[in-house]
Amino acid sequence: MKILVIGSGGREHALAWKLAQSPRTEKLFCAPGNPGTMDIAENIPIKDSDIIGLADFAERERMDMTVVGPELPLTLGIVDEFERRGLRIFGPDQKTAELEGSKVFAKQFMVRHSIPTAQAEVADSAEKAKDLLSSDRYSFPLVIKADGLAVGKGAIICKTREAAEEAVRAVMVEKIFDDSGDRILVEEFLRGKEASFIVLSDGENVVPLVTTMDHKHAYDGDKGPNTGGMGAISPSPFVKSDLFLKIMESIVFTTVDYLREEGRKYKGVLYVGLMLTDEGPKVLEYNCRFGDPETQPQMLRMESDLVDILLSVIEGKASATQIKWSPNPSACVVLASGGYPLAYEKGKKIEGLKEAQEIPGITIFHAGTRYEGGEYYTNGGRVMGVCASEETLAKSLEKAYEAIARISFEGMHFRKDIGAAKEEAK
Ligand code: AMP
Ligand code: GLY
Repeated sequence: MKILVIGSGGREHALAWKLAQSPRTEKLFCAPGNPGTMDIAENIPIKDSDIIGLADFAERERMDMTVVGPELPLTLGIVDEFERRGLRIFGPDQKTAELEGSKVFAKQFMVRHSIPTAQAEVADSAEKAKDLLSSDRYSFPLVIKADGLAVGKGAIICKTREAAEEAVRAVMVEKIFDDSGDRILVEEFLRGKEASFIVLSDGENVVPLVTTMDHKHAYDGDKGPNTGGMGAISPSPFVKSDLFLKIMESIVFTTVDYLREEGRKYKGVLYVGLMLTDEGPKVLEYNCRFGDPETQPQMLRMESDLVDILLSVIEGKASATQIKWSPNPSACVVLASGGYPLAYEKGKKIEGLKEAQEIPGITIFHAGTRYEGGEYYTNGGRVMGVCASEETLAKSLEKAYEAIARISFEGMHFRKDIGAAKEEAK
């Protein structure tokens, strides 16, 4: 089969890496891909937002399957465009991707169907937001959330009323996220551990992936600003079997079933971001795509053929799909550019990559890298993910950090406590 992966991050490198292992894969393409995918696929310089360009390419090359990594093309309707042309594609259609594309829609959907989530109210103007904030319904901290996509930065945690008013001004008046801030949610702040709960669905059936835990904060001890994710482990130390079943029942099946009833048949990967509160798991957000970096440790543990799995979802035959996983825990530690998630410089030469890769059992997934003249340079905030899967989580982490000790670039920073929260697990 000819397969196209859309996107250019660590998630897409991990998906491409797994797809490349399938005996069914004859030729793999990535658009636009990154220097890591270059070794296993042909990189095609088409942006993920250029859905017509991507559809033209897939049609011309007679692509057998396309796998969408990031959310943007999904919310722009790439699945509708491909399906109109009779091309097989993995992901939800535009109407269904609204679950990620509009936090207001997602919140109203959850309220309508009693899916546990933080309480929130909608404001469609700065005046309305100010009114809400001046009432005594809310205590602080609270969360101001832009309705639309905001490259993972749309949730602003505000410790005081002044900070909340400032966030409203930035989002609704200064429009730091453009139209995405036309409406906001003023949301209750939830306390607890976060979990990424990720499943596949063909709209009727649900196939869960192994659990994972992301590390969103920039610095050790969950300090510093939120990032796209500084590392992930699988399984999650906090989602044991009882809780797993509870999440499936109270959240996942309910979501997929009610979406279908509302004419939004969910086909693709559904990522539920959860806060595990004292009152039980509550939904923070839905994503219509795989997680980054959660995908990296998940793919390391997947023993089944990813091509077969994705095809079964596209063809509505997921009821028969069972995924085989390695029992070995896995870990991914992200190396980031100095300053990330705030401003950072690009173009720093990366040393020691080859030496790190020589360690048996190490897999490195590229994200923000550039290849030129035989050398790798930094080209983004999250530069790469260093991953391992051994008999124990401790060994996986030890190996990943051993490899990281060989890698360096100016300003490189990473968390030294990925997976450490395991110690607190009950
Ligand atoms: P979101 O874009 O909704 O996933 O939010 C990004 C991050 O903000 C989450 O992963 C949480 O760390 C944090 N967050 C979002 N909503 C809440 C909430 N209601 N209470 C506490 N933290 C939140
Ligand atoms: N790692 C968080 C996300 O993929 O949304």
